[in-house]
Amino acid sequence: DDTKAGVKGLVDAGILNIPKIFVRPSEDLAADELNSSQKTIEVPIIDVSNIGDSIRRQEIVNEVKIASGEWGFFQVINHGIPLSVLDEMIEGIRLFNEQDLELKKEIYSRDSAKKVKFLSNFDLYTSKALDWKDTLQLSLLDFDPDPSEMPPVCRKSTMEYIKHLKKLGETLFELLSEALDLQPDYLNSIGCSKGCSIVAHYYPPCPQPELTLGVRKHADAGILTVLLQNHIGGLQVLHDDQWFDVHPIRGGLVINVGDLLQVLSNEKFKSVKHRAIANHVGPRISVPCFFSGHASLLDKPFGPIKDLQSEANPPRYKEFLLNEYFAKFFSSSLDDDKL
Ligand code: SIN
Ligand code: FE2
Repeated sequence: DDTKAGVKGLVDAGILNIPKIFVRPSEDLAADELNSSQKTIEVPIIDVSNIGDSIRRQEIVNEVKIASGEWGFFQVINHGIPLSVLDEMIEGIRLFNEQDLELKKEIYSRDSAKKVKFLSNFDLYTSKALDWKDTLQLSLLDFDPDPSEMPPVCRKSTMEYIKHLKKLGETLFELLSEALDLQPDYLNSIGCSKGCSIVAHYYPPCPQPELTLGVRKHADAGILTVLLQNHIGGLQVLHDDQWFDVHPIRGGLVINVGDLLQVLSNEKFKSVKHRAIANHVGPRISVPCFFSGHASLLDKPFGPIKDLQSEANPPRYKEFLLNEYFAKFFSSSLDDDKL
């Protein structure tokens, strides 16, 4: 029953040493890597304003193409979602986590079929070591959630954010389609932007951040991730075998290619490993939204887009069923390599 109090429950109890189950093997931890200030390149930042201007749009598409192919990650700025909507979304998640524990316990669940639930580490029983975070999971499927199912403290802010996110998702999939030399509506027309889940993380301050991670190294299983984060920082991306910080930009959103877009694009775009380090300060709040496609895709063969295949570019993946793929994902641990 203690797990229902989450990682925040441990911190509130005043622990000075983190429980062993959170301690990661030393090879997984941030050692003496170069820090970002010594690096001459950084995760791309793309200004998506003036996207209606055809010359500017072509430049943006080109930036998206390079970022998705070389980094698998980029940040977008001037995307049109008002700052107040982003701030209120983060504030709603803070309020949810900091409300009376009894209210969180009411929706605590490890049942993958539950659409709205609070938990700490979905792979509690299968992972080698746990991540220093608590999570509120909202499966939106078709972006049309019943507001009454949302936790009251973050209902209004989440509903508002989702409305904007849906539009941004469609725009991003247009840019990505163009970056693959497909018709602009291609990825939207096959259902890429039609379903998502929001997985809102709350990373409490950690008394021994050098021994654990906020999120261990992994790649995202879905199609595309749009991540909102507060000012604390900690997200790092693997590029050329080095870890690069994804510095929080106020008003910016982090976009990354998931495993399923790597498959669809026949590896033109890369799904890249990333992690979040733990911090002495906090809470860090991050709200990834995983676009995973419309439910109708689940029982149809899924594989590289035919138009992207040729004799010179044979398919790099066999077709598979998404419902089997996701079942495997949810029954294994984030430690495993899915692809
Ligand atoms: C994740 O990749 O699962 C979360 C990353 C973050 O919190 O920044
Ligand atoms: Fe991730």
